[in-house]
Amino acid sequence: MKILVTGGLGFIGSHTSVELINKGYDVTIIDNLVNSNISVLKNIEKITGIRPEFHKIDLRNKNELKKKFRSNIFNGVIHFAALKSVSESVKNPELYLTNNVEATKNLLDFIASKNRKTNLIFSSSCTVYGQAKKLPINESSPVVKQESPYGESKKICEEIIRNEIVINKNINGISLRYFNPIGAHESSLIGEHPKGIPENLVPYITQFAIGKRKELIIFGNDYPTIDGTCIRDYIHIKDLANAHVSALEFLSKMKKENFYDFFNVGTGRGTTVLELIKIFEDTNNIKLKYKIGNRRAGDIIAAYADIKKINTTIGWYAKNTISNALKTAWNWEKQQSKLNDN
Ligand SMILES: NC(=O)c1ccc[n+]([C@@H]2O[C@H](COP(=O)([O-])OP(=O)(O)OC[C@H]3O[C@@H](n4cnc5c(N)ncnc54)[C@H](O)[C@@H]3O)[C@@H](O)[C@H]2O)c1
Repeated sequence: MKILVTGGLGFIGSHTSVELINKGYDVTIIDNLVNSNISVLKNIEKITGIRPEFHKIDLRNKNELKKKFRSNIFNGVIHFAALKSVSESVKNPELYLTNNVEATKNLLDFIASKNRKTNLIFSSSCTVYGQAKKLPINESSPVVKQESPYGESKKICEEIIRNEIVINKNINGISLRYFNPIGAHESSLIGEHPKGIPENLVPYITQFAIGKRKELIIFGNDYPTIDGTCIRDYIHIKDLANAHVSALEFLSKMKKENFYDFFNVGTGRGTTVLELIKIFEDTNNIKLKYKIGNRRAGDIIAAYADIKKINTTIGWYAKNTISNALKTAWNWEKQQSKLNDN
C-alpha cells in the first residue's frame, strides 16, 4: 500500500509515518519544511530502519505535485500539511487561507487527476466545535462560526473535501477531529518542535522546565471548572498516529463509493491545566513554579471528546496514559537541549 503523507516531517505527520512504516506501508512524504526540519527524515529512518521517499514541495504550488508524481499511484493520502498557529492566523488570515485552503484544493485536484481509487484522511481539529454546549463533545455537536482564521481554514477544508467526495466516486475520505496531542516518540528521536513561544501547553511546560522560558503562566484560574483552569482532552501522540492507520485500514475495507465521515480523536477524559501540571511534576519528579495570569483571548472553558463513534465504527481506542506522554515529552525536551549544547 503506497501512502502519500503531506506535512510528514511535522509533529503528527512524523509519528504517523513511523507507525505506517512499522505496519509495512510504503510511505512517501512531502513537506515544504516551513515548520519542520529535514533531520526528522533521518530520525524516522533511525526508528524504523527505512528511509521514506521525501520531496520538498510546497502544496500551494498548484502543478508541482502533478509534475513530481506524474506516474505515481497512491492508495492513500494523509493530509497534515498546514499552518497551525491560532495567533498567527489572526494577524495574517490571508496566509492561512492560501496555505491551508488553497493547498487542500491543490491536493484534491491532484488526487482527482489520477482517476484511481484513493483513500484520504484529513487532519481536522476539535476547534470546529468551539465551546460546545454539551460535554463530552460528540460528532453531532454543531460546527460553529470560528473565532480564528485557523479554525475557519479547518472548517472550510472539511467542506471542500466532503464536496469533492460527493461528486467523485474514486475518493473515500475521513476527517479526524483531533483533541490535544501531546508527548513524543519513546526513542526521543522525534517530537513536537514549536517555533517561537509555544501555543500548546506541554511544550510550554517542558521549555520552562528546561530553562528555555523564564515563566510558566497559567492563563486564568477563574473558569467554572474544578480548580478554575481550562479542561482539555490530552491524547498521546502515538495513539493519535495509530488512529490514522486504523482510519486507513477502515477505508481500505470500505465497499461504498463516495464515503465521507468525520470522527473525534481523543481519550474521552478531560484534564485541567493544573491537573496536567501535577501529573508532569509527579511523573518527572520536577517542581514547577508557575504563575497565574489573565485569561487568554479565544480560549474555551472545556473540551473533551465523546469517542464512541471512532471506537465502534473504526475500532480504534487510545491506549497510553497522560503520564507516559508527559514522560516522553520531557525526555524529548532534554534530548533537544543536549543536541543544542553540542
Ligand atoms: N498539534 C495540534 O495540537 C493539532 C490539533 C488539531 C489539528 N492539528 C492539525 O494537524 C496537522 C499537523 O499538525 P502538527 O502539529 O503536526 O503541525 P506541524 O507544523 O508540526 O506539521 C505540519 C507540517 O506541514 C508542513 N507544511 C505546512 N504548510 C505546508 C505547505 N504549504 N506545503 C507543504 N508542507 C507544508 C510544515 O512544514 C510541517 O512540517 C495540521 O493540519 C494541524 O492543523 C494539529
